[in-house]
Amino acid sequence: MPVITNIADLKDLHRRRTPKMFYDYAESGSYTEQTFRENTTDFEKLRLRQKVAVDMSGRTTESEMIGRKVAMPVALAPVGLTGMQRADGEIKAARAAEKFGVPFTLSTMSICSIEDVAAHTTKPFWFQLYVMRDWEFVEAILERARKAGCDALVLTLDLQILGQRHKDLKNGLSAPPKMTLPTMINLATKWQWGLEMLATKRRFFGNIVGHAKGVGDASSLFSWTAEQFDPKLDWDKIARIRDMWGGKLILKGVLDEEDARICADFGADALIVSNHGGRQLDGALSSIRMLPRIVRAVGKDIEVHMDSGIRSGQDVLKALALGAKGTYIGRAFIYGLGAMGEEGVTKALEVIQKELDISMALCGERDVKELRHENLLVPADFEGDWV
Ligand code: GLV
Repeated sequence: MPVITNIADLKDLHRRRTPKMFYDYAESGSYTEQTFRENTTDFEKLRLRQKVAVDMSGRTTESEMIGRKVAMPVALAPVGLTGMQRADGEIKAARAAEKFGVPFTLSTMSICSIEDVAAHTTKPFWFQLYVMRDWEFVEAILERARKAGCDALVLTLDLQILGQRHKDLKNGLSAPPKMTLPTMINLATKWQWGLEMLATKRRFFGNIVGHAKGVGDASSLFSWTAEQFDPKLDWDKIARIRDMWGGKLILKGVLDEEDARICADFGADALIVSNHGGRQLDGALSSIRMLPRIVRAVGKDIEVHMDSGIRSGQDVLKALALGAKGTYIGRAFIYGLGAMGEEGVTKALEVIQKELDISMALCGERDVKELRHENLLVPADFEGDWV
């Protein structure tokens, strides 16, 4: 059993144990990957302010996200094709999150279906929706999420059209993988992955296949998004979905103060400052860089969450200190899943919690809810002067 001390260790194992096609899918940004890179390098520009001789006993990382108690304010982000990183991946990740005490968000583009994840967990999870052209499908999937007990809807706003990720096209990404010669050669070195995949029935987009009409190639994320995602999504349609859902609503993919203001006035429970992990608009600023402005603009009126770029507890600390009430990890838990299944997701959460706890102590803080701007050293030009 390898000694895992940080998220990079899990990433290394994920790369070695998972077919290239799926590792690349997780590890890509769109186009030049500038935004993907800056999501992490911008975190490095922020420094932590060390404080000494402060009582550090009785620390807690517990908090709340949209009224739900969390062991730490770090939810699992919706990630498409999670069940291709490891057999039954969504079920494994949801179970790890449940045991740890953080929310799990199931993607519309998951391999395990809503019903399947519900059957293998005991606490409510969150459901992420992509808005489709087919309103019957949207209505039906919301009903399925409600029946499965999902207690929040995470509505993604920044992927009505897919940003191009070069590696996915070159690898011929699909779920399940098509057996081309390069794929077969690569799979031959991933025998554990293959054996587990052979032993499960869950190898297709479980929320889609058998539920949606008129799908050309149901194994391809590209065809599905191009054919089915609604390019006319606007605030009227978002209001229609809010009314159809009737429960807690989190708007994901906000990177602009004006859009954030609309989300706040709209009455959503939270918004997520996000550039989709750098997978959509390449050239957009990093989420951590946009976070302070959005918090200043709307932080009093709506709960602000953030994702994109978090790979450590120190990153979580920085996001919270800049005003986020909650954060999400995507790749960081996927590395754990690809490396070691459910145990790996738990490990990723443990690593992040421990880093958060110890760094918080060294900053002279005992309660994650008390983190604030003064815990950081922020370079004067961090936000940038953009015209
Ligand atoms: C969404 O599903 C993505 O591939 O980023």
